[in-house]
Amino acid sequence: MDTFTIGGDLDVHRLGFGAMRITGEGIWGPPDDPEEAKRLLRHVVEVGVDLIDTADSYGPEVSENLIAEALHPYPDGLVIATKGGLRRTGPGQWPRDARPERLKKACEASLRRLKLDRIDLYQLHSPDPQVPYEDSVGALKELQDEGKVRHVGISNVSVEELHRARGIVEVVTVQNRYNLEDRGSEDVLDVCEEAGIGFIPWFPLATGRLAKPRDALDRIAEEQDATPAQVALAWLLARSPVMLPIPGTSSIEHFEENLAAARIELSDDELAAIGSAAQG
Ligand SMILES: NC(=O)c1ccc[n+]([C@@H]2O[C@H](COP(=O)([O-])OP(=O)(O)OC[C@H]3O[C@@H](n4cnc5c(N)ncnc54)[C@H](OP(=O)(O)O)[C@@H]3O)[C@@H](O)[C@H]2O)c1
Repeated sequence: MDTFTIGGDLDVHRLGFGAMRITGEGIWGPPDDPEEAKRLLRHVVEVGVDLIDTADSYGPEVSENLIAEALHPYPDGLVIATKGGLRRTGPGQWPRDARPERLKKACEASLRRLKLDRIDLYQLHSPDPQVPYEDSVGALKELQDEGKVRHVGISNVSVEELHRARGIVEVVTVQNRYNLEDRGSEDVLDVCEEAGIGFIPWFPLATGRLAKPRDALDRIAEEQDATPAQVALAWLLARSPVMLPIPGTSSIEHFEENLAAARIELSDDELAAIGSAAQG
């Protein structure tokens, strides 16, 4: 599998793992079978995935705790990317809170839960309309200056917000919603590609919707002896060398299926056919 270097010094395979789905329903509380979630996490790392995306708000706390329970002490080279900036008030509820003092507390708590001295990639989950964006990003810069955070990423941003953040701190990744059907962040991806910033597309399978048979995706999947989910992920990987998809799953079977997408090579004609059918 291809690799990408985040921030000049973190080499990761380009297909990572999203650890949001290892929690309870509504990303709230523990999963039905925490031991199975830990087995999945250990398996993810054993087969060579070295980028795991999580957040303090997944559970909340549940995803980070399971990662530490399953994987600490961490193998060399494993990059755990977490986030702060959202609060949880119930299942499916995600109010923003990116006040500097709260971000600093959130980062300290993530460090404790993950049993780390420094977080390799700390991401601001979302701009908070109640707080000047510069203040929130500035808090992450201070955490970096204090040695608590190695690299800073941002998430759910426009091109303009990306430019503002880059005026304050070196931004090494952007995590925005992006998949075959939803390319609203194409302009942000273009800026990332030009600047060598990693682009982490969340919702890469549109909650499994893209795993279902459909037109060109289905036809090309059949020709490639692959599944639609694999073709949707292979399309993402082919879309840009800075693309770092983090498909999320609670199932080892789906994880294996998704990982195998990295082996699929799509021709230019296939890429164009998949891309235009999904947009049509
Ligand atoms: N920055 C942000 O604001 C933000 C927001 C949302 C998510 N994220 C991150 O992005 C990651 C991925 O996003 P996501 O989990 O929302 O979307 P996703 O990866 O597109 O979809 C995950 C869903 O698809 C299903 N799925 C996965 N692989 C499948 C397969 N091969 N066949 C059929 N169904 C499959 C999963 O169900 P099963 O569990 O049954 O496999 C799960 O319900 C998250 O884990 C999280 O780390 C970030």
